[in-house]
Amino acid sequence: MPEDLLLRGAHVIDPSTGRDEVCDVAVADGRIAAEPGPGATTLDCDGLVLAPGLVDMHTHLRQPGREDKETVETGCRAAALGGFTAVAPMANTEPVADHAGVIHEVRDLGAAAGLCDVFPVGAITRGLAGEAMAEIGEMVEAGVRLFSDDGRCVPTARMLRNALTYARAFDGVVMAEHCEDTSLAEGGQMHEGLHSYSLGLAGQPREAEEVIVARDLAVARLSGGRLHLCHLSSAGSIELVRLAKAQGLRVSAEVTPHHLVFSEEDLLTYDTNLKVNPPLRAAEDRDALHEALADGTIDAVATDHAPHAVEDKEVEFDQAPPGTIGLETALGAVLTHLVEPGVLSLARAIEAMSTAPARILGAAGHGGPIEPGRPANLVVFDPAAEWTVEPPFASRSRNSAFLGQVLRGRAVHTVYAGELVVADGKAQR
Ligand code: NCD
Ligand code: ZN
Repeated sequence: MPEDLLLRGAHVIDPSTGRDEVCDVAVADGRIAAEPGPGATTLDCDGLVLAPGLVDMHTHLRQPGREDKETVETGCRAAALGGFTAVAPMANTEPVADHAGVIHEVRDLGAAAGLCDVFPVGAITRGLAGEAMAEIGEMVEAGVRLFSDDGRCVPTARMLRNALTYARAFDGVVMAEHCEDTSLAEGGQMHEGLHSYSLGLAGQPREAEEVIVARDLAVARLSGGRLHLCHLSSAGSIELVRLAKAQGLRVSAEVTPHHLVFSEEDLLTYDTNLKVNPPLRAAEDRDALHEALADGTIDAVATDHAPHAVEDKEVEFDQAPPGTIGLETALGAVLTHLVEPGVLSLARAIEAMSTAPARILGAAGHGGPIEPGRPANLVVFDPAAEWTVEPPFASRSRNSAFLGQVLRGRAVHTVYAGELVVADGKAQR
């Protein structure tokens, strides 16, 4: 059993109950307790915020298959240091997580690391090939609640319809879509527009995302299944989701920190760490993402932590694979670029990074409430801590879009299942 803790004098923000007060929080036997045990270790949390541990519903951990980029253990360490107590690794591993075997393997590796909960995402189609349905029933039995072909779009409306219809048989199962029409996006290195013309890079239009968002919302309506839209990037997608939600469709959506912070204008340096899928779009799109996250049209912030090897990224822009790491910077990025300028309240930011993704994932024990008897999955962070994003990272990769940025706000302590896995900003395992 982990040691008992007394987190003293923290500013407790719990979006699941609306609680917002300075008080003590005790942890005993892995759970939140009404009173501290006699031998509890006291941590002075004066000036620090205590919240439900962050939950990342879109992470790439690369194991099995590309352990040179990341392993479940290194990814979980990056997550814990970033304030996360749960991550959902995507299915685009080698082999693909399209059957229960890989799901068990990834979950067991997560349990062995013991740094955060790991909720593996199952593939929708076998081998992510878009042709035959993956072993969804078997994976549901293994506890999977989120399914996605992320990295690729489900190619036909019919396949998505079948998956959504099938998923209805299982309570709480969600199909998460990477919205990208291949015929429009293929070859595109960045957002299509004046900047792509002047940089001489092939563009991909925002319509590549929007036509699939429109298709998927229509198919969700047809099938009645639960749809989640990954990493939305365009203002037009937001309008479609807003309308669908107003009409009562059960749909949810996420946005990444990098799409909230950067735009196509940042590509002037041809920095391959800013080459991501979907591409960074125009400033107007970014503004629409801010508004949608603030008003709840977008439910969650998800990192899309996508580690890539140095040698893969240190190539010509059009040769580089898309993706940025994000677990260690997500909290600082959101606090610095959204909370500080007043785009989001602190409570809404924590809701979008913890309570909302925990609900969509069905991650019981995460996202609050911070109440006696509940599993102790908590983050304590310093909203005023200034730090520069630079290696070394806990992640095995260092392809961060935020390299060199000064961020304000960083996790100090992370409590996972009652254990202090990060203390004073240092991983304890
Ligand atoms: C992801 C990856 O590298 O696996 N890359 C990315 O740019 N987002 C795949 C994905 O999420 O589309
Ligand atoms: Zn994706």
